[in-house]
Order: sequence, then structure tokens, then C-alpha cells
Amino acid sequence: MVQQEHLSRQLSFVVIGASGDLAVKKIFPALFSLYCRGDMPDTFCCCGFARTDMSHDAFRALLLEHLACRYTPGEQECRALTDAFLKRCFYVSGQYDAPDSFGALARVLAETEKSDMPTRRVFYFSIPPFLFMPTAQSLAQASLSDDIPEKRQCRVVIEKPFGRDRASSDELTRGLAAVFTEEQTYRIDHYLGKEVIQNMMALRFANLVFEPLWNRVNIARVLITWMEDIGVEGRAGYFDAYGILRDVMQNHLLQMLALTAMEEPLSLNPEYVRDEKVKVLRSAAPATLDDIVTGQYVAASYHGTQRKGYLDEDGVPPDSITPTYAAVALKIRNRRWDGIPFLIRAGKGLNDRKTEIRIVFRKVPANIFANSPNPPEANELVIRVQPDPGISLSFMNKKLGMPLSLQKTELKLSYAEVFDEQTPDAYESLILDVIKGDKSLFIRADELAAAWDVFTPVLHALESCTIRPQPYPFGSNGPQSADALAALYKADWR
Ligand code: BG6
Repeated sequence: MVQQEHLSRQLSFVVIGASGDLAVKKIFPALFSLYCRGDMPDTFCCCGFARTDMSHDAFRALLLEHLACRYTPGEQECRALTDAFLKRCFYVSGQYDAPDSFGALARVLAETEKSDMPTRRVFYFSIPPFLFMPTAQSLAQASLSDDIPEKRQCRVVIEKPFGRDRASSDELTRGLAAVFTEEQTYRIDHYLGKEVIQNMMALRFANLVFEPLWNRVNIARVLITWMEDIGVEGRAGYFDAYGILRDVMQNHLLQMLALTAMEEPLSLNPEYVRDEKVKVLRSAAPATLDDIVTGQYVAASYHGTQRKGYLDEDGVPPDSITPTYAAVALKIRNRRWDGIPFLIRAGKGLNDRKTEIRIVFRKVPANIFANSPNPPEANELVIRVQPDPGISLSFMNKKLGMPLSLQKTELKLSYAEVFDEQTPDAYESLILDVIKGDKSLFIRADELAAAWDVFTPVLHALESCTIRPQPYPFGSNGPQSADALAALYKADWR
């Protein structure tokens, strides 16, 4: 029913900000993959809108550079699909705050859509957040945003950053709500589209073995790590205005935390899933200055290449106090997690690229091996998001041979080895969900507010006290005081 309903309506997928990197490298390739997989309705068009003046053909040529046939590798079939897809792509240039420009868009849509068929229109805002409101208003003034019962259904997709703190996020939510209802609004967090993160609910709630242990009695701490070994890569202007806390912690990492810590929803109904995430986020105590370490990378040689420091990046003010690293100890005040630290860290310019959730169990209490040369170590369940997605569980084993002694070993599940299928890109899954109308993986307004509440006080404190982030060399493990923060909770970052 819900599964197939999306194929019975014609679809107009409009990407606003279509000449930008996200649109060209992620959104259109994802639409193309969905087309190759047969997940697009028979009648659809993809329409790009941006300021750059371009013909339909020039736009198609731009898209072509990034389209790949991941699901249909045969060369001939791939070419035929690419041609057929590109024929359904159109382009309109205009100004975001000019309703007239959107009038031109409306005309292109009217020409391509069949008038006797119900339509679904998706407007994907691939634009900086300061353009969200003018664009939404222009869409409304061009009568593009309203649903028409039985005939037309409109949806808008927006992507973080949603404001800079709770107040500015609320203002954006209110402003957009004047044009698009909450029902029409899809707030994307692309981490929720990643396979391993989507698997969190299956891992926790489709298995018997984890849930009875998933609490303060058996778990000592949870560590969530997000590391990149690159700098801000030409995005200094954006990054300096937001910093690592707003760029990835308040969204990607908090979402991972929510999926790790939440209760089992009543069902897979998107509202029930989101209810549980809201509940657990509201249980998280807002971080304070005592719970946080921030850092900023400085120039150093990494893998034989001299790397710039953050302050040397083009577009970064010389006195910037924007953190490129943060480690935070969060506490969840509920019966399941009381007293258990959730240590989360995120940083750019580090010595690895990885994202993982590490559940550290408590040590076995008094036991027969306590006095042996290798006493039992705590079990750890590691959910590896990237690279090499997979899950591993460490446990103690008897070492082969004599005399009896213990060794820590690992049970490993590697996605690459177990699954033959192509892993869909996060944007593919999420865009398909938008088309289908499944909101489980999108952030509801109250969830966004709850996530901001965790970080807003500490962001304000860091900024009003002009707290300088600790320097750390590019290609290192981050500032040393982050190790000290972890040590307070008997933890170490690995
Ligand atoms: C984005 C951040 O949301 O995620 C970037 O703005 C970051 O700073 C990126 O590099 C990482 O995404 P992924 O999917 O490559 O891990």
C-alpha cells in the first residue's frame, strides 16, 4: 500500500540550488539510482533551479559527469538509462527571492506534468539556510507550495544547519511553518540514511540477546566517535560560522546517541519512532562547560605532507575561536541510563577517518579468572558506521593450548563480506522515503528543539566567555585534555 502508492502518482522533483555540489554530486545521482532501480514512477521529471544561467542541455551535461550506473552495470543498458533519465531533467534559472523566477518554474512544471494525473511535488532546498525563508516565500507566492486535495501533494526537504541555537532554530521552524505544514516538511540528516545507522533498530529490537543487557546494570559507558583526517576543504566560510558542535554533533552524533539510548517504539510507525527519540533527547542533561573540551587543529606534517592549521585556511579569520574538535560527556537522566556517561567526540584534521558507536560493558564481577595472568576484560560491542561498515563484539576465550589462560577475541560482521547487494547511498534511501512519505528517518520539529536544548547552553557559554579551543596538531588524536575528560569516566578514546 504505502510501498506502492508512490509509483501511482506522477512526480516532479525540484532541486533548488541545483548547480551546487550537493545537488550535482549527491541528489541527482541518487535520483538516477532510484530510476535505475525502478523506484521512480513512470511519469516523473527532475527540475533544477539555481541562479546560474544555463540551458537544459548544459545542465544535463553537468549532471552527466556524476551519474553512475551502480545497479545496472551493462554499458549499453547504462547509456540508455542515462539518456532516458537526462531527458526528464530540466533547468530553470532565477533568483531565490523573486516570485517571478518561480513563476517560470511553475510553467516548466505545468508543461511537463500530465494535467489529468495526481501529482507529487518535492522541493529539495539544496541552498544555504539563509535562503530557506525567501525561497519558501517565493514558492508560496508562485502558488507552488499548497496541497490540492486529490490532485497535488507538495513536500519540502531541508537540510541542516537548522539555525545556530534553540532560538534561531525555533524562528526558522516558525517561519517555514507559515508556508509548509509540519506534515509537508522533511528535515534531513543524511547520517540517518546510512545503512549501519538504520540497522540500529534492527540490532536492538530484532534480537533477544542485546536488550536485556542494554542498561546501566550491564553497560559501563558508551563512546561515539566521529573523526575525519581532512580539514575544512574549501568550506571554511560555512564551517567558521558553525563549528564542529553545530556541524556534526548537534545532529549526526546526537541522532546516533538517540538510536542507541532510546526505548523500543510502540511500532515502526514513524511518529512512534520519533516520539522515542524525542523522549530520550529530552532526558539528556544539557552539556555544561565542565563536560566539554574543544580543540582547533594547527599546522603539522601528516603522512609526509605539511598540512595547514585551521587559522591558516582561506576564509578563516585569524582570531577565530571556532572549534574543529569537541569531546563531550553527556548524561541521560532516566531509569535505564542514570549514571552512565555517553562520551561523544567529533573532529576534523585528526589521524583517522571513522565513525563508530562503542558500547563498553561492565567487567565480570568476582570470578574464577580474576587472579589469572590475563583476567577478563570488559566486552565491547562496536558498531562501525564507516569506513568498512560492520559490527564486532569482543569477548574472552580460552587461549589455545596449555595451561588454561584467557585471550580477548572478536566476533566480526563485515557488511562487505556478508551482503552481496550494493549498499544504497544515504541520499538514495532518504529521497525514496521522501517520495514514499515515510518520515521515520526525518527530524520532527520537537526532536530538533530537544537536540538544540542539549547544546545551546554550552554553545552560548563557549562563545560568551570567548573560550579558546585547545590547539592540536593536524593528524593527531585531538587535544590531550580530551583524554583527561575520558579518563574522568575511566574511558579512553580508541
Ligand atoms: C556533513 C558535514 O554533514 O557531513 C561535513 O557538514 C562532514 O563537515 C560530512 O564532512 C561527513 O559526511 P560523510 O557522509 O562523508 O561522513
